[in-house]
Amino acid sequence: MIIHGIETSCDETAAAVLTNNDKRITILSNIIASSAHLQAKFGGVIPEQAAREQIKSIIPVIEESLRNKKIDAIAVTYGPGLIGSLLVGVETAKTLATVWKKPLIPVNHLLGHFYANWISSTPSFPAIGLLVSGGHTDLVLFKDHGKYKYLGGTRDDAAGECFDKCARLLGLPYPGGPNLAHLASQGEALEALGFKLPRPMIHSKDLDFSFSGLKTSVSNIVSDKRLTINDKQDLAAAIEQAIVDVLVKKCVQAVEQYGVKNLIVAGGVAANTKFREELKSSLPDISIFIPPVELCTDNAAMIATAAFFNYQPIDPLTLQADPNLSFFIS
Ligand code: KG4
Ligand code: ZN
Repeated sequence: MIIHGIETSCDETAAAVLTNNDKRITILSNIIASSAHLQAKFGGVIPEQAAREQIKSIIPVIEESLRNKKIDAIAVTYGPGLIGSLLVGVETAKTLATVWKKPLIPVNHLLGHFYANWISSTPSFPAIGLLVSGGHTDLVLFKDHGKYKYLGGTRDDAAGECFDKCARLLGLPYPGGPNLAHLASQGEALEALGFKLPRPMIHSKDLDFSFSGLKTSVSNIVSDKRLTINDKQDLAAAIEQAIVDVLVKKCVQAVEQYGVKNLIVAGGVAANTKFREELKSSLPDISIFIPPVELCTDNAAMIATAAFFNYQPIDPLTLQADPNLSFFIS
C-alpha cells in the first residue's frame, strides 16, 4: 500500500509518500516547507501568518511529494495544533480524497510523532513512550498499536517550550532549542558560577513534569547578572543539563514502575544530542527507540506511518480539524 501523508499542525507544511510493501516502511518522498525565516524575524510562530504561508505552499509541497507516484490512501493530521494551520491540511486532504476517491485516514499529531520510530525500526510492546515537543511533554504506556494509556505530563510548560523561552532570555534567535543546544556545546554546566538551576518535580513519585520554575530561575539570573559570552555558554549548558536530568529521571522511573523493556521517544526535543546520549547511558538494558534527528521535528512521513498501523478511514466530509485533540483519541 502507498500512503500520502499531509501535516500542517503548526508552522510546517509537509507532505510525504510512503510504502509498506514487503512489510518494510520506505519513504518515497518527504517534503517540508517551513516558515522558519518568518519566525526568526518575529521571534516565534504567529498563527495567522503561519496559516497564510501554508495556504501558499500546500499545493506546491503536495505536487512535489507526489511527482510520478500513485497513491492508495491519504493520511492527514487533524489535531492538536493551531486551528488555521490544521484547516489548511485537513480541508486539502478532504478535497483530494473526495475528488480522487481515496480513503482518508485522520491522524492524531501526538501519536504521529511516535510513529517516526516505525520508519526505520520496529519497536516492541509493551513500551513506555515519551513525547517531548514544543507543546507537549507526555509519558504514555503503549500496550499495542492503538492501545495506550496516558501516564503523566507537564503541569505547565513543555520541555521544548522551556528550551525556547530560555533561549529567548539568552537573546538567541528562533528556533530556540537547537540554538541553545549549540551554545551549550561551547560551555560547561558549572554550578560554581551560581547557575544552580532547579530540576522541578525530579523527586516526585508521579510521572508529571513542570518546567516553568526553571524558566523563572533563568529569567532571574539574566536580569540580575551582566553575562559575558562565556557566562551565557555556561548558563546554556546548565539549562540543557537541568532539562535533560528531569527527562531522563522520569523515563527511568516510568520504565521501572511499569517493568517494560522498551522506550520509544519522539518529538522535537528528542533531536537533542545530550538528551539522546544521557538516556542511552542511563538505561543500558532497555531498548531505546529515537527517530533519526530529521524525523524528530514535524514531518508528514510520521503521519503516513501512523496511518499504516492505525488504518481507520473515515468519510472525508465528516472530518473536522480539532485544535484541542488529546492523546486519548487516535
Ligand atoms: O515536535 P516539534 O517539531 O513541534 C511540536 O509539535 O511542538 O518540536 C519543536 C520543539 C521546539 O521547542 C524546539 O526548540 C525543540 O523541539 N527542539 C530542540 C532541538 N531541536 C528542536 N530542543 C532541544 N534541542 C534540540 N536539538
Ligand atoms: Zn509536533
